[in-house]
Amino acid sequence: MGATMIERVTLRDVVKVRHEVLRPNQGPEATITEVDNHPRTVHFGAVIADEIVGVVSSGPEAFSADNAVIGWRLRGFAVCPQYRCRGIGTALLQALRLHLSGTECELLWAYARCTALTTYLKSGFECFGPEFDIPPTGLHKIICMRNSGRDVQR
Ligand SMILES: CC(C)(COP(=O)(O)OP(=O)(O)OC[C@H]1O[C@@H](n2cnc3c(N)ncnc32)[C@H](O)[C@@H]1OP(=O)(O)O)[C@@H](O)C(=O)NCCC(=O)NCCS
Repeated sequence: MGATMIERVTLRDVVKVRHEVLRPNQGPEATITEVDNHPRTVHFGAVIADEIVGVVSSGPEAFSADNAVIGWRLRGFAVCPQYRCRGIGTALLQALRLHLSGTECELLWAYARCTALTTYLKSGFECFGPEFDIPPTGLHKIICMRNSGRDVQR
């Protein structure tokens, strides 16, 4: 297997992997979210031998209705099954955190599938509140991480 490169990729690239991994029973367009339309939204892909095998996206979206902090929401975190458990997901989260250190983002947050929580927690996210169901994908928890890179830049 060739080296894994983490690169900025397009919405079209991430939709393909999101569809295959996250929502195979729905059309690819079902994986497109509101934050994908924001001009500052970023998409990262893990590329091995010209194939995108993992993706993550994030863009500005308030965490709470009072807009007390500047939130960016993480979406579409997925690694193709045959490439899991070798650090690709963690590398994608790391690339996103590095990007966010140069932005106004104060808090990175997501509704995380409970089955993926350990990967998020090992990357520094914290969980909040009870589990809740989002059909058809199952149980989720709110996860957050303060954008500490932003503090370093000040
Ligand atoms: C969640 C997901 C993106 C993680 O991707 P990944 O590439 O497997 O992530 P990593 O390899 O960085 O970490 C996964 C595990 O492998 C372990 N790992 C990391 N590098 C490793 C290596 N070189 N050798 C062995 N294990 C390793 C990690 O410690 C981690 O262990 P854990 O499951 O006990 O936490 C992937 O499992 C996935 O796509 N799941 C289905 C979709 C999904 O649920 N997405 C999240 C939606 S919120």
